[in-house]
Amino acid sequence: MNKKNLYNRIWAKSNNSWLLGIPLGGFIFLAIGVFILIAMQQVISYTSTTEFCQSCHIGSDTVVEEYQQSIHFMNRTGIRAECVDCHVPDSLLPKLIAKVSTGTTHIWSKITKDINLDNFESEHRERMANNAKETIRSLNSSTCMSCHDFDNMDTDKQGRTAKRKHSTKRRKDKTCIDCHSGIAHKLPEIVF
Ligand code: HEC
Ligand code: HEC
Ligand code: HEC
Ligand code: HEC
Repeated sequence: MNKKNLYNRIWAKSNNSWLLGIPLGGFIFLAIGVFILIAMQQVISYTSTTEFCQSCHIGSDTVVEEYQQSIHFMNRTGIRAECVDCHVPDSLLPKLIAKVSTGTTHIWSKITKDINLDNFESEHRERMANNAKETIRSLNSSTCMSCHDFDNMDTDKQGRTAKRKHSTKRRKDKTCIDCHSGIAHKLPEIVF
């Protein structure tokens, strides 16, 4: 077959009008794909807002009000850590997993458990605080380290204890959450 013939065969108008379905179908799939992506993006960004977290947590516990009194809400330099900055990993896959798994447990707990201002402290806080710490620990405190970094700390400017504890020798393989808690909320009354 010479070049011209080949060209004609590829570009000749097809007699089969159903072949049009292929680009058309492709286009429809692409449109649906783009639509789903945009919808997912919207859901992810809405469920990442502090307002979203507050919609459940205000009124059933006191963590939001405590956070608003903490240094992570307002400080000298004006940097605020939002709920998800500490509680939800930032990279896409872990974030999606966290959204689906913790998201569904939260909604399920909201329906099945009656957590309210009267029983939060006495019956629920300890478990919830432990879960929260466990999650941050499983992330090696990477959520904290998206803002704080040992390497960027001018330990000479820190208090004596902090300087000592943050030294490579002292901290060994400990991460922030192994030594720090109660940095955005009060601790449970029972020490854990
Ligand atoms: C649908 C209501 C609802 C929403 C929205 C919600 N939570 Fe929760 N959350 C709960 C309930 C209920 C619990 C208690 C779970 C349990 O019984 O252990 C909880 C527990 C927690 C805990 C304790 C650890 C754990 O997993 O039990 C953390 C931390 C937390 N929520 C953070 C957040 C953050 C951050 C957001 C926003 C991204 C958020 N929540 C949005 C209802 C909600
Ligand atoms: C969005 C950025 C951000 C994230 C995320 C974050 N922090 Fe902070 N942190 C700050 C800022 C800003 C301050 C206040 C600095 C200042 O003004 O002195 C601060 C202060 C602190 C302090 C000093 C408290 C005090 O009373 O002086 C500790 C300890 C701390 N953070 C630990 C943590 C830990 C542990 C985590 C993770 C659970 C975390 N931070 C997550 C930004 C962040
Ligand atoms: C081995 C334990 C340990 C580890 C790990 C650790 N810290 Fe600390 N940190 C301390 C102690 C102890 C202090 C002093 C507390 C005090 O003076 O009240 C401190 C103080 C601080 C302060 C206040 C410093 C100052 O001078 O005001 C910040 C901010 C802080 N830590 C952040 C972090 C972050 C972020 C991480 C993780 C990257 C981390 N720390 C890991 C033990 C630790
Ligand atoms: C600076 C990091 C940080 C920010 C910002 C933050 N949290 Fe937390 N949160 C923690 C840590 C660490 C714990 C584990 C217990 C503790 O140390 O207080 C925790 C515990 C919790 C718990 C378990 C109950 C308890 O009292 O321990 C809930 C619920 C919670 N956070 C929800 C939220 C919500 C909602 C927001 C935003 C309004 C928020 N957190 C903002 C770090 C943070």
